[in-house]
Amino acid sequence: MTSAEMPSNPAGKRQVHLAAHFPGVNSTTVWADPRSRSQIDFTSFEQLARTAERGLFDFFFLAEGLRLREHKGRIHDLDVVGRPESITVLNALAGVTDRLGLAATVNATFNEPYETARRFAALDHLSAGRAAWNVVTSSDAFTGENFRRGGFLDRADRYTRAAEFVDVARQVWDAGAGRPLRHDGRHFTVEGPHGVARPPQGHPVVIQAGDSDEGREFAARAADVIFTRHGTLEAGRAFSADVKGRLARYGRARDDLKIMPGATCVLGDSAAEAQERAAAIRRQQVSPQNALLALEQVWGVDLSGYDPDGPLPDIDPVPDSALSQGRTHRGDVFALAEKWRALSLEKGLSIRQTVIETTGRQSFVGTPDAVAAEIDTFVQAGAADGFILVPHLTPGGLDDFVDRVVPLLQERGVFRSAYAGTTLRSHLGLAVPEVLHT
Ligand SMILES: Cc1cc2nc3c(=O)[nH]c(=O)nc-3n(C[C@H](O)[C@H](O)[C@H](O)COP(=O)(O)O)c2cc1C
Repeated sequence: MTSAEMPSNPAGKRQVHLAAHFPGVNSTTVWADPRSRSQIDFTSFEQLARTAERGLFDFFFLAEGLRLREHKGRIHDLDVVGRPESITVLNALAGVTDRLGLAATVNATFNEPYETARRFAALDHLSAGRAAWNVVTSSDAFTGENFRRGGFLDRADRYTRAAEFVDVARQVWDAGAGRPLRHDGRHFTVEGPHGVARPPQGHPVVIQAGDSDEGREFAARAADVIFTRHGTLEAGRAFSADVKGRLARYGRARDDLKIMPGATCVLGDSAAEAQERAAAIRRQQVSPQNALLALEQVWGVDLSGYDPDGPLPDIDPVPDSALSQGRTHRGDVFALAEKWRALSLEKGLSIRQTVIETTGRQSFVGTPDAVAAEIDTFVQAGAADGFILVPHLTPGGLDDFVDRVVPLLQERGVFRSAYAGTTLRSHLGLAVPEVLHT
């Protein structure tokens, strides 16, 4: 079914898409809360997935890093140690869910397209058409050390490799329908099919998460969904306009690409109660120790002598420092440090308060009514097609949202009251791609 054929609701409103994010590497989880449970036991994955399916979400999302990050020579305190590999987890979840899409993050820099395509084809078959692949491109040498290719790929080449990677994967999937398979490109040579039938979705859904100009271009060309950090109304609109504006170059329509910012939600019976809860959660997420850690990640030097309740350091940050290894590329650390300093001066904030203000913005804080109205506003305004919800508690952190906000979105006529189809493509209103014949 194409978007044009989607049943329109009486008011002709745009529909909201929702996904559940299961944390991995994170500073979101409030570990001190007695309701916090394991992030590695299957029962936790199962519980959050079942909640998402009860809430009729489009998909369940697993982020993944390929190496535990390090800080000051030790394993980063906020990384989850012992988590099973994502596609394996999703294959198990396919057996305990029915309709929920299942998305795994697989890096295009450190894997091979032939094998990756085979694994996603298997997930798509085992789940009867619910697989999605979040294509990420981190290329740092620290991660590369596990692949005996330390730093082998220039930052600029990450997306040429990723684009070729996805093209080859699609050819491999189409080979399952009898299309001949032969690719001889800059990064990959693939000669013969592996014998897995074409996936039920034709091509599993492709998600992109990355923000550079090359990343956006790659998404416009090859992705079905973008997972983005542009979560305010203004930034979301600008981002959507930018990436959706690139689609025509590739013969694609605006609805062929869904923009889904990561988002958090804190509910209360009154606006004041929700605000209080939200502030308490931020204080728990940014402990004095975590505040210094966040600062050290920007400054790139040991700041353990600083008082988290005192002012920001007046020393300059060190770019390309090896103090923190394996984190996402942070861009211009001088500009970031300057921005944090200016904010702290302007508002009289301590180190900890500055980190609370600048990291981990809370998206939706309010009564269920207010949150449903705000989500609706975002989607109708074209600032997003929906949200990937990141709970601060695992695995029960989306219970309240599903019980209290989803029914209000349904009342507003902007969210399904039952799954219309069985595949993730049908939840997203995306057609099954035709087999390309050469
Ligand atoms: C919202 C979001 C989520 C991401 N999740 C992951 C992840 O789970 N694993 C990973 O290795 N990289 C992840 N990344 C990193 C991106 O794939 C990419 O490597 C990084 O953002 C740099 O790309 P860029 O230069 O296009 O921004 C994520 C990025 C964003 C914006």
